[in-house]
Amino acid sequence: MNKTDATILKIGGSVITDKNGELTAQTQVIDRLANEVEKADTRNLIIVHGGGSFGHPAAQRNAIKEGLRDPKQLVGFAETHHFMTVLNGLMMDSLIMHNVPAVSVTPSSCITTENGRIKSFEDTPLKMLLETGFLPVLYGDAVIDTKLGFTILSGDQLVSTLATKFNADRIIIGVDVDGLYDADPKAEKTAKLFTHLTIDELKKLKSKLGKPTVCDVTGGMFGKIEELLPALERGITATIVNATKPNHIYRALKRDSIEGTTIEKR
Ligand code: IPE
Repeated sequence: MNKTDATILKIGGSVITDKNGELTAQTQVIDRLANEVEKADTRNLIIVHGGGSFGHPAAQRNAIKEGLRDPKQLVGFAETHHFMTVLNGLMMDSLIMHNVPAVSVTPSSCITTENGRIKSFEDTPLKMLLETGFLPVLYGDAVIDTKLGFTILSGDQLVSTLATKFNADRIIIGVDVDGLYDADPKAEKTAKLFTHLTIDELKKLKSKLGKPTVCDVTGGMFGKIEELLPALERGITATIVNATKPNHIYRALKRDSIEGTTIEKR
């Protein structure tokens, strides 16, 4: 299949929430990002956002990723999913206020996983929303799992799956650092930013990328990059940019040059 001009944009939970707290949204950042999406006016765009302090603490407290072991977890699953819909609602409020025809697509209602990997995806409404000119918005979510009972589906696995499904030509990942570093830039001042990486270079680097330092049930930067590999192998380009800096997402959407890390097949 030839590449489409579809773009998959992930906004990390660390950008739109304060990951050190619980249920703390960065509403001004959400509004600025909605404005950048409006200004960029990108065709065939799908947004996926992360959970940050709305998804991870509840998921961790109730061991949702590990699966159903105790009926007491059911309320925890409901709570995790609900908190995600609350964060999603804030994103939707801002996007629609900025005249973006954004429509929320709830992952737990159309996706199941098997041992944590996407197994079924009822994607007809999503495809038709995109074709009709809407901007679908999805998010990392608590989902039904055919082996585990339930689990957590990360926004990053969703990004990779969507990019493959729509044969996207690019993925943009908005995070709270300037891109991929050879060490954790928050812990090590001398960490060096990679501007361009191939898959082979990335695989070598993977083992060195830091594990999460804050509450993150889906594996931090390490987990995110690992999830992108299937899409990268198909020749889809991924660009990691700092979405906490004004206009970086706008410039990435406009294909303007921007500080960050670009990862390509070779
Ligand atoms: C996590 O999604 C979703 C839940 C914990 C429910 P992500 O793994 O994509 O979230 P961030 O971007 O790391 O916050």
